[in-house]
Amino acid sequence: MIDAISFNNNTLRYLDQRYLPLTEEYVSTKSHQEAIEAIKTLAVRGAPLIGVAAAYTIILGINSFKGSKEEFPPFFAALVADVEASRPTAVNLFFAAARLKKVYAENFKDDTIEALFAKMNAAARKIHADEIANCDAMSRHGVEQIKIDLAHILKTRKLNVLTHCNTGTLACCGTGSALGVIRLAWQEGLIERVITSESRPLLQGLRLTAWELEHDGIPFVSISDSSSAFLMQRGMIDFGIVGADRIAANGDTANKIGTCAHAISAWHHNLPFYIAAPVSTIDITIPDGTHITIEERNADELRTIFGTQVASPTTPVLNYAFDVTPGKLLRGIITDKKAVVGDYVKGLAALMEE
Ligand code: MRU
Repeated sequence: MIDAISFNNNTLRYLDQRYLPLTEEYVSTKSHQEAIEAIKTLAVRGAPLIGVAAAYTIILGINSFKGSKEEFPPFFAALVADVEASRPTAVNLFFAAARLKKVYAENFKDDTIEALFAKMNAAARKIHADEIANCDAMSRHGVEQIKIDLAHILKTRKLNVLTHCNTGTLACCGTGSALGVIRLAWQEGLIERVITSESRPLLQGLRLTAWELEHDGIPFVSISDSSSAFLMQRGMIDFGIVGADRIAANGDTANKIGTCAHAISAWHHNLPFYIAAPVSTIDITIPDGTHITIEERNADELRTIFGTQVASPTTPVLNYAFDVTPGKLLRGIITDKKAVVGDYVKGLAALMEE
C-alpha cells in the first residue's frame, strides 16, 4: 500500500513525489517550514493531499509554539497565512485551514493551550480520515454513473478511459478521486484499458498515475497530452474522467493544465467527460471559473526536464499549472455525496446544503 502521508509523534512523513517512479523516498519532518516547502515544490501534491498536508503543517507549527496563551493569536495568524500562501489554486488547502481556524475561534477563549492543541490535532486527523473515506464514496457514485451513461457500450465490450494528471492515492490519500472511480470500475470488470496523458511539464500522469496503475496491475497506456483528440477520433477512448483543484458554483472546474483541451475534444466527439472530486473541492463562494486564481509556476519547469536544459534559458515562458474547464462541457461532477448532473448551479448549491 502506498503511504502518501502520515502523522505520528508530531512528525509528518510523506512520500516525496518529485522523483517517482525512479526513486521512492520517504521524508520525515517536525518543521512546519519544511512542510510548507514540500507543498510549494510539489513533493506533496494533488488537491485533497494538499489539504491534509496543510492541516498537519499547521499542527507542526502550533506544536513548535513556546509562548504564553496571549502570544498565541498573532503566532497562529502568521502560521496560517504562511500555509495558505504555499499554493493558490487547490481550495482544499483553504478548506483545511478554515476548519482549523474554526476550532481555534470556538475554543481559544475557554480552553488551555494544551486542550486547544489537542482539539486542533483531532480536527487535522479527521480531515485526513474524511479524505480517505471520500474516495470510496466517490468511486461508488462514479461507477453507478458510468454504468448508466455508457450502458450501450457495456452491453458488448469494456471501456477505454482517458485520465489526466494524477488523482490516485498519491493525490488523495485513499484510492483516489478520478483514479478511485477507475480502480473500482476495473475491479467490476468495466474497464479495458486506462489511457493516461503525460501532464506536462511535471509529468504527474506519465510518472505517478502510470506508477499507481502498474502497482495495481491495471492495463494502461501513456500518451502525450496532445494525443487525446486523435485517439477519440479513432474510437480509442470511450470517456474521460479527471480530478479537480477547485469547482465554482456553476461547475467550472480548475484542474491540471491540459484538462480543458481533453474536455473540448470529448465534447466534439460526443464522449462523456467527468470530474470526480470531494465536496471539499467545491468553492460555492465563487460563481464561475473566472474567479479562480490560477497558479503560475517557475519558467524553468518548462525550459528544463529534470534538471536538463532543453530550451534557451532566456526563452520566455507561460507556465500556468491549471486551466478551467467550463461546466457545460462536463457530463457530470462525481462527489463523495453523489453525482451531480444537469444544472450545476442548482445541483451544487443543493449538495452544499445537504
Ligand atoms: O499540481 P498538482 O500535481 O498538485 O495538480 C494536481 C491536479 O491537477 C489533480 O488533477 C487535482 O489536484 C485533483 S487530485 C484528486
